[in-house]
Amino acid sequence: MAKDPVRVLVTVVAGQIGYAIVPMIARGAMLGPDQPVILHMLDIEPAAEALNGVRMELIDAAFPLLKGVVATTNAEEACKGVNIAVMVGGFPRKEGMERKDVMSKNVSIYKAQASALEKHAAEDCKVLVVANPANTNALILKKFAPSIPEKNITCLTRLDHNRALGQISERINVHVGDVKNVIIWGNHSSTQYPDVNHATVATSSGEKNVRELVADDNWLNSEFITMVQQRGAAIIKARKLSSALSAASSACDHIRDWVLGTPKGKWVSMGVYSDGSYGIQPGLIYSFPVTCEKGEWSIVQGLKIDEFSRAKLDATEQELIEEKALAYSCLN
Ligand code: NAD
Ligand code: LMR
Repeated sequence: MAKDPVRVLVTVVAGQIGYAIVPMIARGAMLGPDQPVILHMLDIEPAAEALNGVRMELIDAAFPLLKGVVATTNAEEACKGVNIAVMVGGFPRKEGMERKDVMSKNVSIYKAQASALEKHAAEDCKVLVVANPANTNALILKKFAPSIPEKNITCLTRLDHNRALGQISERINVHVGDVKNVIIWGNHSSTQYPDVNHATVATSSGEKNVRELVADDNWLNSEFITMVQQRGAAIIKARKLSSALSAASSACDHIRDWVLGTPKGKWVSMGVYSDGSYGIQPGLIYSFPVTCEKGEWSIVQGLKIDEFSRAKLDATEQELIEEKALAYSCLN
């Protein structure tokens, strides 16, 4: 029997990531090749015409899995009954703007969108915040959508996770699909800590530790970390625009693994609310290694954290504590 359609909200589909992700969702890259979807697309009033253009293209593409489209500039209408919400819209930093000005704009956007989700989304709605500052936007959303379970509010660090897999695969010339269990700890920012201490590569003679195969701790402890931390900036420099196809694809990976489960023996990185694991302040939205089963994520427990890693986990936590304080000061 055909499955009931799942309602997926994407905010600002006329933006770069929005435009890249909607065909992926409509083709089943997010929820599987047998899962029909109804796309809810929200944009801001000045983008109404472009939004209608995207709606027209979705009709023209004749996607078999796409069972309906809601295209609107009204947040309440956009959020009605949604099961999954991918929050891409946000206010970009413009010339002359202070960090606090950008934070203040995003705090008010996420406060308003949280209220619309709180009132209209399905009870079990799963939320993924992509727009920067992603962890702190998710934190504000959590505060103003108290009836959405806190376990359902997450932010995107899967792009950083995938970037780390990609760098290892390039360095030792193995397929990216054979590398697993890197970890992104902390903030989706340049303080994030890409950790390879538990990562492995599948080889013809069994699983090998990434450190053993790379055989260059110097590179792993410096250049590799900086490369992953700065990859977003490098893409902006090269494209004059921020990453879009990789961000959209990673957002699909994030939701797919969350809803359909992670393969046995494999973990992924997700920005989730901290329960105090690994000594991280409870309540922050912090990126941890997680496994997913039956639509629920769990933080991987018991990993050994050495002194080098401890300092890095703490530094990115500190940045999130400061961002939280800044965001809360914008609420007053
Ligand atoms: P974009 O500029 O193409 O689109 C952003 C959209 O936000 C614009 O279309 C604009 O209409 C909309 N917007 C502006 N003001 C708004 C408001 N007041 N309310 C709602 N929406 C508003 O940007 P993009 O390249 O699609 O990136 C979207 C966001 O994702 C950015 O914040 C970017 O920094 C972030 N990003 C995050 C990751 C990640 O891994 N977490 C990766 C890449 C990009
Ligand atoms: C990325 O990681 O590509 C983006 O978050 C960069 C940015 O600042 O938009």
